[in-house]
Amino acid sequence: MNILVIGSGGREHALVWKIAKSRKIKKIFCAPGNPGIAQLAECVDIKADDIKGLREFAIKEKIDLMVVGPELPLTLGIIDFFEEKGLKVFGPSKKAAEIEGSKVFAKNLMQKYSIPTAAYKVFKDLRNAKDYIKEHNFPLVVKADGLAAGKGVIICKTREDAIDAIKLIMEKKAFGRAGDRVIIEEFLKGEEASFLAITDGKTVIPLPPCQDHKAIFDGDKGPNTGGMGAYSPTPIITAKLKEEIIDSIMMPTVKAMEKEGRPYKGVLYAGLMITEDGPKVLEYNCRFGDPETQPIMMRLRNDLVDVLSAAVEGKLNKVKLNCDNKLALCVVMTSKGYPGDYEKGKEIKGIEDAARLKDVVIFHAGTALNDTKLVTAGGRVLGVTAMGVGVKRAINKAYEAVSRIKWEGAHYRKDIGKKAIK
Ligand code: AMP
Ligand code: GLY
Repeated sequence: MNILVIGSGGREHALVWKIAKSRKIKKIFCAPGNPGIAQLAECVDIKADDIKGLREFAIKEKIDLMVVGPELPLTLGIIDFFEEKGLKVFGPSKKAAEIEGSKVFAKNLMQKYSIPTAAYKVFKDLRNAKDYIKEHNFPLVVKADGLAAGKGVIICKTREDAIDAIKLIMEKKAFGRAGDRVIIEEFLKGEEASFLAITDGKTVIPLPPCQDHKAIFDGDKGPNTGGMGAYSPTPIITAKLKEEIIDSIMMPTVKAMEKEGRPYKGVLYAGLMITEDGPKVLEYNCRFGDPETQPIMMRLRNDLVDVLSAAVEGKLNKVKLNCDNKLALCVVMTSKGYPGDYEKGKEIKGIEDAARLKDVVIFHAGTALNDTKLVTAGGRVLGVTAMGVGVKRAINKAYEAVSRIKWEGAHYRKDIGKKAIK
C-alpha cells in the first residue's frame, strides 16, 4: 500500500516509524514531514492545511490510506474533501471534528448526553461574563471556544485574573474568532490523564492510557505547553477505571455523535481529570496526542496499518489490540524560551549516540537540515522515547539518552514519570 501521513511533528514521526514496520507497505509519504521522518518516508513539500494540494498529490501517487496528525486540517474538512473522491482516509469528518474545534459544541454535547464534565456557562457578551464572575468563587477556568494552539485555557485564581482572561479573549481577541465565545467553568481537582481510543463509529478500541506533562517546568510549574513528556501505562488508570471511562465517557460520546448526525471515526482523545467523584472530561481532541503517540506507538504490537484500515472500513470489531507490557516514556526536549519566543538554527549533536541505546527511539519534531547539519527549527525539538520494565528503568534509559544530546539552550523537564513511582 501507499500511505500518506499529514503533519511534521513528533507524533507524525512516531506514526511513520510504526507504519514503516508494516508488511503491507509499498511506499510511505509524509507532508510536510521533518528530517527524522525523511529517514523512513519520502517527505513532500505540501503544508498540512493545503487540503487541495494534498488531494491532488494523493490522486497522483495512488495513495491507499491517509492518516492525519494535526487538528487544523481535520477541522477544515480534509476527510470530507478526500472522501468525495473515494479516497481512504483515517480521521473524523469536519462535522465530527467540531468536538475539538468548538469547546462550546463539546460542552453542550456532554451536558445533553450526561457525559461527566465540569459545570460551565457560555458567554457571547463581555459584560454578562463579567457579571457572572462577580458572583462566583475561585479558582475558575476561562476558555476560548475555538482552536488556540493549546493557549486558550486560562486558570484564574482571583477575580482580577478572570476579568483579565475574559478581556484577553473577548476584547483583545488574542485568539481571533476563536474567542467570539467564552466558557467559564468549574475548576476540577485531581490528576489528569490522556485517554485515546480508535473508533469506526460503532466499536471503540482504547489505546493504552497515558500521562502527559503539560507545564514547561518540573513539578508542573510554569505555563502550559503542547506537552513536555508522556508515559504509558499510567498507574492512575486502573483496569476498573478504564472500564468506567469506556462505559461512561468514550462509548456515550461516540453514540451521542451518531445521534447528532455527526458519526465519529478516527481517534477520539479525551483529556480527563480523575476527580474524587470519578473521571470527568476536560476536553476532547479529534486526533492522536503529541507526545502521547510516541510512547503508545512504541508499546503497540499490532500492525498499525491493519488497525487504521479496519477503522476506515468499519471493521474494528474484528481487531484486538496487543501492547508490550513494558513502560514507554517520552521526554520532550525544547528550544530555550518555548512556549514563548525562541531562537532557531542551533546545531543538534549526539542523536546517533543516543539512538544507539537499546529500546530508545529519538522522534524528531522541530528539526531541520542546514546543509548537512541538523539544527533546531521549532519549540518542541525532539521526543526522546525509551521502553523499560517498570517506570524506573524507562526513566533511567530515557534520561541516559537525553544526556547524550546537546544544543545551545536545550531545555527538558527532569521529572517525567516521577508521579508513577510509588
Ligand atoms: P484543555 O485544553 O481544555 O484540556 O485545557 C488545558 C489544560 O487546562 C488541561 O490540561 C488542564 O490542566 C487545565 N484545565 C482545563 N479545564 C480545567 C478545569 N475545568 N479544571 C482544572 N483544570 C483545567
Ligand atoms: N499532548 C496534548 C495534546 O496532544 O493535545
